[in-house]
Formats: sequence, structure tokens, C-alpha cells
Amino acid sequence: MVDYSVNGSVAVLMVNNPPVNALGHAVRVGLKTGIERGAKDSRVRSIIIIGKGQTFPAGADIREFGKPSKEPWLTAVGNLIKTCSKPVVAAIHGTCLGGGLEIALFSHYRIAVSSARVGFPEVTLGLLPGAGGSQRLSRLTGLPVAMEMISSGRHVPARKAKEYGIIDEIVSGDLLKTALKFAQEVQSRPFKDRCLRYKVVPNADRVEEYASAALTQVKKKYKGFEAPVACVQAVRSSAELSYEEGMKRERDLFLQLGQSGQAKAQQYAFFAERAVTKWQMPGGSYKTAKPLPVRSTAVIGAGTMGSGIAVCLLSAGLPVYLLEQNEKFLQSGVKLIESIMAGSVKLGKVSMETAKRAATLLKPTLSYDDIKDVDLVIEAVFENLDIKKEVFSKLDKICKPSAILCTNTSTIDINRISSATSRPEKVVGTHFFAPAYHMKLLENIYGTKTSPEAVATVMKLGKTINKVPVLVKSCHGFLANRMNAPFSSEAIFLVEEGASPQEVDQVNEDFGMPMGPFKVRDLSGIDISWRINREVAKVLGTSITKETRFLGGNRYCGLNDDFYDKGRYGRKTGKGWYLYEKVGGKTAVADPEAEEIINSYRQSRGIVKRKITPQEIFERQFYSAINEGFRILEEGICNMPEEIDISWIYGFSYPKYRGGPMFYASQIGLQRVYDRICHYHETCPYSIHWVPNRLLKKLAENNVPFTQWANHVSKSKM
Ligand code: CAA
Repeated sequence: MVDYSVNGSVAVLMVNNPPVNALGHAVRVGLKTGIERGAKDSRVRSIIIIGKGQTFPAGADIREFGKPSKEPWLTAVGNLIKTCSKPVVAAIHGTCLGGGLEIALFSHYRIAVSSARVGFPEVTLGLLPGAGGSQRLSRLTGLPVAMEMISSGRHVPARKAKEYGIIDEIVSGDLLKTALKFAQEVQSRPFKDRCLRYKVVPNADRVEEYASAALTQVKKKYKGFEAPVACVQAVRSSAELSYEEGMKRERDLFLQLGQSGQAKAQQYAFFAERAVTKWQMPGGSYKTAKPLPVRSTAVIGAGTMGSGIAVCLLSAGLPVYLLEQNEKFLQSGVKLIESIMAGSVKLGKVSMETAKRAATLLKPTLSYDDIKDVDLVIEAVFENLDIKKEVFSKLDKICKPSAILCTNTSTIDINRISSATSRPEKVVGTHFFAPAYHMKLLENIYGTKTSPEAVATVMKLGKTINKVPVLVKSCHGFLANRMNAPFSSEAIFLVEEGASPQEVDQVNEDFGMPMGPFKVRDLSGIDISWRINREVAKVLGTSITKETRFLGGNRYCGLNDDFYDKGRYGRKTGKGWYLYEKVGGKTAVADPEAEEIINSYRQSRGIVKRKITPQEIFERQFYSAINEGFRILEEGICNMPEEIDISWIYGFSYPKYRGGPMFYASQIGLQRVYDRICHYHETCPYSIHWVPNRLLKKLAENNVPFTQWANHVSKSKM
């Protein structure tokens, strides 16, 4: 795992543990042995540590976390490097992260190619640097930079790292050759003072001021996460305590975090995010299907979603034809794109060059003829089957045979849309989440006839435009909205029965959701849900009136309609479930008028208000969604619980530190979840979503561990 060789007077320790040269046990042993050998080797006067393949070590081996740790520990390896009688040079390329950066900071010199990135991303795994990184980085960079870098986990580009003092030299050309030359040059220099532990933390007397600013920031930015706060505290101790005491403080905080549920959940989410890239569908998988090249695109519909999708494509450097039915809609879409781009530049999310290039790549048009040669089209018109079919029938006639035809539908079965074309194998769903330029989930959907090639193309496109693509099989509502349906219906039922919108929102926000369901409704527009409900009724061959209490055999609550009737559409009208400071305002406050609407709704239907506990609010929303999640698994809409969890994290901003609803259910215990679902099935009749799922029952009864759920899914499908 670590190859030892000698080139002239320099020993080279080449870490060889693909794909990311993680510092697993064998690598740590290899580094320890290599340093000891180099120190003894009479031919050797300096030592290089370098990574083979694509990167310098990108950190500890996360797969070893939670297992009994085996010596030598990273700190012991680092101490050997630090106290080595010969200078050690870290030669960095790729990503030098976590334990990798610890090794580099233990070394006496650090050189890097300009494309390299360094960082301490432990915080994203619910941890902090555990081998002294929080004590040594601040001695190099000063407290504010160390606090920010460690609490954000940001990957810092080499040039910036040089400015911060982390990298000594940026080098070009062949890294090993340059490192050999550098290692020879430093042989004649004294290097003991290069050891970071003897350096003084700059401006240590201002630690209180820096720490309080950093804490205010991280508590706001990473609300609910434990690790960022601990990261700031660890760095703070580098200025307040001696090096030894600081190391001990870091260790204590590391152990505390390591035992927390948050770290476990965040590490699960790390691997879940990678697991969902390994998609499978009947007839193909990520291994067998080849994506088609996408060099040009078109977006049909320049509304909020279409414009947001165009921004995603343009930001990734893809040319986009934006097609609308009239000049007025087209121009408003172009203006929206420009304003999103300007806002992103202002926030530092997009560079000025990217925004300028995007402007040249955008081609507004009113003519279908213009898009006949594009490689991929995304339709983003109104969520109505007839309109979508009309668009697809036109696309089928005009687009070149190889073009991939995507629909940004949030609920409609892909098969019903693709039936309007003569090439259903090219039709695939690409469901973006609002706001499309911000939310990271891309729910890709295959229909019965969609080809694996079309799926491979949109899975790759998702990565290209910096989304997290998750593949699901087509059905009404797919994965995310199918689970969201009971979740948000229950929120309204709870208010119908006696809870206030504020109480429901508070329970959700206390759990870690960034916004409660009523604030979300006000944001997305009460008029939108009003219209969607009418579409659903139309599909069911019925209509909604004041008397409607059931829709499609399911309980229906007309409260949303009463708010709609009063013109309270949410933020856009300055009032909805809440009152806002102005039209388009963001500050939600409770509104007596809204309470009156709710009270008179209850009275008119003879509902006696009852007190509802936070526990009931939580369980009715989240457990009904989990029950639906198991149904989705059982029906093979997705293949593994990871796909559900990642969809919630990136589609609904579910708190990553809880892993996702399915992971959360596994932590609560499936038997308990199942029992509560049975309880609500009895106490909340008339909601199909409370029928306890058979797969859930089976897994609960057999006490099947989370990692085995997916195996039972495929068995239950057979
Ligand atoms: N440990 C184990 N496996 C790892 C790993 C790690 N640190 N980093 C990546 N991998 C695995 C991934 O799971 C993936 O495996 P599969 O192919 O089986 O799915 C494979 O390596 C490639 O990873 P990516 O798909 O993420 O590759 P990428 O090129 O897109 O990104 C990367 C590379 C930027 C290094 C990214 O993998 C990453 O961010 N890794 C995690 C880095 C990290 O968090 N390091 C700190 C670890 S904690 C630590 O170091 C603390 C300590 O010392 C005590």
C-alpha cells in the first residue's frame, strides 16, 4: 500500500491505495514503516510522501469508522514524521483532505500542483480533524481562517492555500520530478523550526472575538449540526491552551462527536450519495449503458421552472434554446434567467465569467424549427397531461432521431407522456425541485419503454449540472412527491383537527427541516396547490366543492381552498397561512385572520378542536411518509432505501444529520415505527396512506438490519 524507493539521496513513499489513497490501516502501517526505514537508510537525506494515481491521500478510510481502531493511529504516524531526523516533504496533487492534510501538516514542507485542493472535510461527516489538525492549522493560517475552513469543510484551491500559508510552493510539470529536486534542495537547510507545534498562534489574544464571530456564523449557517460548533471550539483551544492540552481537548471533542448519532447519520449519507450513482433498471445499469453526448439543449417553457432549469444548463456551459409560445412569456423568462444569474454572481455561487458565457449560450426562440438538431430537450410546461402530450407530439416530429426527450413533470406517469411519441425509448423524466437552480436533487424517471441509454444520458447530465441524480421507476408522483403527499396531507389534517399551523411548523423545524409545511405552502403558493388539487380531481373524473371530504377514496381537507377563496395565496399576496410584512415578504408571523378562517372551517363542519401533542404531529407526518417509503420500495419504484433518503436530503432539505427518513426509521426501530403506524391506522381512518405496509411489517418482525433491507426488497418483488 506504500511503496518505498530511493532516488539518489531521497526516499519516496508512494501511497498506493486506489481510488483515493485513503489512510486505512495498511497505509498507516506502510507510512510508519517507510518513515522508519528512510530515517535509518544511510543513502537517504530527505523523504517525500506522494500519492499514486489521481490524488494525495483524501483522508482516513471512512469504512473503518465505527470498527475497533487498529494501531498505528494517524497521530502516531504523524508524530514519527514530525520528529523524523530527515526533512519530510508532502508532494500534493488531487485532493489532500482530512487525514491526508494531517499528514501534510506533520511534514516539514508542502508543495502542490496548482490543481490540487486541500481541506478538512471531517465536519461533513459529523466529526472534526482528530489528529491535531485543529491545533496546527491555526498556527499556520491564523484563527479566523482555521475556524472557517474546519467548520465548513471547504476544499481550498492550492493557490488560496498558499496565500493562507498552508502550501509552501506551487509547482508545475511532473510532480515527482519537481518534488525530488525540492527534497534535495532542503537537505542542507535546518528544518526543526518547520515543525508547526512550536509556532505561536497569530493574534491569540483576539481568540474570544474570533470565536464568538465564528460561532454566531456556524449556528446560523449549519443550524442543528453539532460538529461545526465543536470545530470552532477545537480551534479556539489552540489559542487558549498549551499544544498538549489543545490536543487533548481536540481528542475529547472528536470522541464526543464520534459517538453521536449525527456522525453516524452523516457518514451513512456520504456513502448513500455514492450508492445512488450505481443505478439499475430492467435491461441495463450504470455498468452497461453508455450515455449519449449532450452538446446542445433546449428547454420548452420559460416559466419559473423552465428558466431555473435553463440556468442549471447554462451554468454548466451548455448551449440552451429557450422556447416559448409568445414573445411576452419568452422575454419574461429571459429576464428571470438574467436576474437569477446576477443574484448567483452576487452571492459568489457563480463567477462573472460563467455568467457572461451563459449570456452568449442562451438562445431565446419562438420556433420549434430551431431545436431540430439539439441533443437533449427538457419540457417544462404546465403540469397538465394534454398540454405535455401536445408538446411531445411536436418534439417527436421535429427533433433528430437520437435526441433525448425529457419531461420535467412532478407527478405524471412518463408512459402517458411518451405515448404521444413514436420513440418512447428516448423519453425520460427529469424532475427538478424548486428553485431548480438551487435544489440539488434531480429525480430521473424511466418509463416501461425508456432505454438504459436515455437513462445513462440524464444520469450523466445530472452530474454535469452539479445535481445529485436519483433514478426511479415511473408511477404517479414517483418517489419524492409520493412520499410528500401523506406528509403534507397529514399537516393539513392536523390543523383541521386542532393544531395551529405554527405548532405544526415548529415541530418540523425543531426536527431540523428548514421550514415547516405551512411556510413551504406559503412559499410555493396556495393557488398552486389549489390548481393541483383540481387537476387531480379532473383525472379522477370528479370535482371539488365545499362539501368534498373525500377525493379518490382518500380523506380530503378543504382548508387550503378557503384560504384560496380569500385571495390568500401565500408570500406572493403578503398573506396565506401566515401574515408577511409586505407582498413578497419573507417574515412569517401568526395572523388572527388566518386563525378565524381555520376556526370557522372547523365550526362549519362540526369539528371540535382538540389538543394535539408534538409527538403526534411528528409521527403523523413522518411515519405516514415512511410507510409510503416502504410501499415504494416494495413496488420496486426504487431499489434501495438510500435512494429515498438522498431524495429527501436533496429534494426537501431533510437534515443530513438524521440520515434520511428510512435511516431514521432504522434508528428508531422498525417495530416501534410499525406499531405507531398501526395505531394511526386505527385512529385516523379514511386515509389509505395509513394502511400498514407488508414489507415494513416483514422487516420489523424479522428484525432485519438496515443494510439488508435492499435484499428483502428484491425478494419481495419476485
Ligand atoms: N474513505 C473510504 N472510501 C472513500 C473515501 C474515504 N475517505 N473517499 C472516497 N471514498 C470512496 C467512495 O465511497 C467511492 O467508492 P465507490 O466507488 O465504491 O462508490 C470512491 O472512493 C470514489 O469516491 P467519489 O465517487 O466521491 O470520487 P470523486 O472523485 O467524485 O471525489 C473525493 C473524490 C473528493 C476525495 C471524495 O470522495 C471525498 O470527498 N471523499 C471524502 C473525503 C473525506 O471526507 N476525507 C476525510 C475523511 S475523515 C478523516 O480523514 C479524519 C481522520 O483522519 C481521523
